[in-house]
Amino acid sequence: MCGIFGIIGKKNCVQDLLKGISKLEYRGYDSAGLSIPSTKEMITIKNKGKVSGLQEKVESFNLFKDDAYSTGIIHTRWATHGVPSEANSHPHNGNQNIISVVHNGIIENYRSLKSSLISEGYSFNSETDSEVLAVLIEKFYEKGQLLKAVNKALKEVDGAYAIAVVSNEDINQLVVARKKSPLVIGKGKDRIFIASDPLPIIEYTKDIFYMKDGYVASIIGDQVKVYDENENPIEIKYEHCSMSPQSIAKDGYDHFMLKEIYEQPEAIESAIAGRVFKDQTEITLEDDILNKDLVNRINRIVIIGCGTAWHAGLIGRNIFERFTKLPVQVDYASDFRYRDPIIDENTLVIAISQSGETADTLGALALANENKTPTLAIVNAVGSTMTREANEVIYTRAGPEIGVASTKAFSAQVLVLYLVAMHIGTIRGILDVDERKRRIKNILKLPSSIRETFKKCSNIKKIASIFKDATNTLFLGRGTGYPVALEGALKLKEISYIHAEGYHAAELKHGPLALVDENMPVVVLALKGRRYSKIINNIEEVKARGGKIIAIVSEGDKEMKNITSDIIEVSEDVGILNSILVAIPMQLLSYYVAVVRGCDVDQPRNLAKSVTVE
Ligand code: AGP
Ligand code: GLU
Repeated sequence: MCGIFGIIGKKNCVQDLLKGISKLEYRGYDSAGLSIPSTKEMITIKNKGKVSGLQEKVESFNLFKDDAYSTGIIHTRWATHGVPSEANSHPHNGNQNIISVVHNGIIENYRSLKSSLISEGYSFNSETDSEVLAVLIEKFYEKGQLLKAVNKALKEVDGAYAIAVVSNEDINQLVVARKKSPLVIGKGKDRIFIASDPLPIIEYTKDIFYMKDGYVASIIGDQVKVYDENENPIEIKYEHCSMSPQSIAKDGYDHFMLKEIYEQPEAIESAIAGRVFKDQTEITLEDDILNKDLVNRINRIVIIGCGTAWHAGLIGRNIFERFTKLPVQVDYASDFRYRDPIIDENTLVIAISQSGETADTLGALALANENKTPTLAIVNAVGSTMTREANEVIYTRAGPEIGVASTKAFSAQVLVLYLVAMHIGTIRGILDVDERKRRIKNILKLPSSIRETFKKCSNIKKIASIFKDATNTLFLGRGTGYPVALEGALKLKEISYIHAEGYHAAELKHGPLALVDENMPVVVLALKGRRYSKIINNIEEVKARGGKIIAIVSEGDKEMKNITSDIIEVSEDVGILNSILVAIPMQLLSYYVAVVRGCDVDQPRNLAKSVTVE
């Protein structure tokens, strides 16, 4: 899940390449590298680690002034084949250094290709799958025929790729191709840009062309030509991208994650906009999404996703069961795609994804499509692959999420699931007008309830210090509190590297209670509600074993104050949407624990924002 960026124009592009790729670092940061084709040679510079290291290295070369360096490709890597190292960094070059390639994805048949190329006398410098692309393209390359060489090479490879290719014998040309990994082209005033997503391009142009699977494009000067998989020319339709460059800056916060946590009221407001009105009793989904025929036809719902999106799906199950009375199954996309799931034209498959690029979720969606099962994608990233693969799309509209740990996208996913469930429950006659009115009131109240909850979170920084030296923690919840507990544990482990487990509180005495001792902080979601007394029992069980309780409770809960002093209050009053409110203190808790432990909050080790490989 690397990031790719490229520029072709008439002025020096080196500094802009570096600036652009740093915006894609959320996609991976094991190493970075660039190639600038010049008439003398292919200039390729690589560095293990983040883009800032590459920037320093490039500064020692004299590359920033000469307008001859006007075409270039750059890459930030998240390793799949071969350790993070300089040799495995992209770009990879052919044996004669005539061709240079950056790649995002996995070449599945690279071993057989590599051994036959070796038997033909070619050599390799890296352990990556990607290098075969460079060697193959160069093998087929003849001067002036870069596109032809790329087409020939791609016929030999299986797998997923977004590639950008340059040659120092055609320095005014850039060839790109995509299959299963994202790639866009931006048309600037006097330059053309290519990238994994629009983020590095939007400061130059808002005109974005989203490459489809199988497309190959050749850019010569300012001329872009795109071909489909059968090499037939395609008419290019640029779409206007409304994302603003400011929306991706940190806005004074120390980390993107913190900024994104505090953006949740606005994220929810924009997810609601135009869909929920205070004087109406129905949800307005755009473009006739989930029309009456479809809703009356379905007899089951399957929700798929990975990580945080899967947790949102688990909360969604409770909501759907209550609002639609339909059976609901929630699956890891990775598992669903390789089982023989029971789905048909009467099942609605809902795929949830922030990035819209998660390989497993795309694979699961493809399986649903093959079975002619109606599919709905709930996606944050506009124009991402998933939005093109699903039959219908509802955007979460949370805005760009840069921190690897998902926060505002999660809340928006839960909210959109709630809207979809209400829509289906209304059409199916499950929710009467009074209930709908009450629930619409709750939806509209949610942004202010989140703001109120922020005000109550001032003691979290102090509570975070309890976790400074912890090695293990538990998160417990019941009902929708259970998936929120799973999400809390995921947040803590991914950014603070503390082992954390989320459990249904009722499961405590079926095993995990054995772990509890005085060194074990236990976070319990204990809002007032139908399961409150049961949660209190679970808390007592932990206390009796010396465990340290941190309780997330309803505002003004006096009973809990007798049990523990480490209490975080939530201004809960929005029914089942309280699951969004309780997630917030947990996001903040994991954030401050990561900070106190000196961890890299936005780019935790071994992870990447967008998991475009299986
Ligand atoms: C969230 O904090 C994680 N980093 C991760 O679990 C993420 O939610 C998962 O990879 C799914 O991503 P998606 O929403 O972009 O499909
Ligand atoms: N397979 C390539 C590598 O390991 C690209 C990885 C990716 O796109 O995540 O270098």
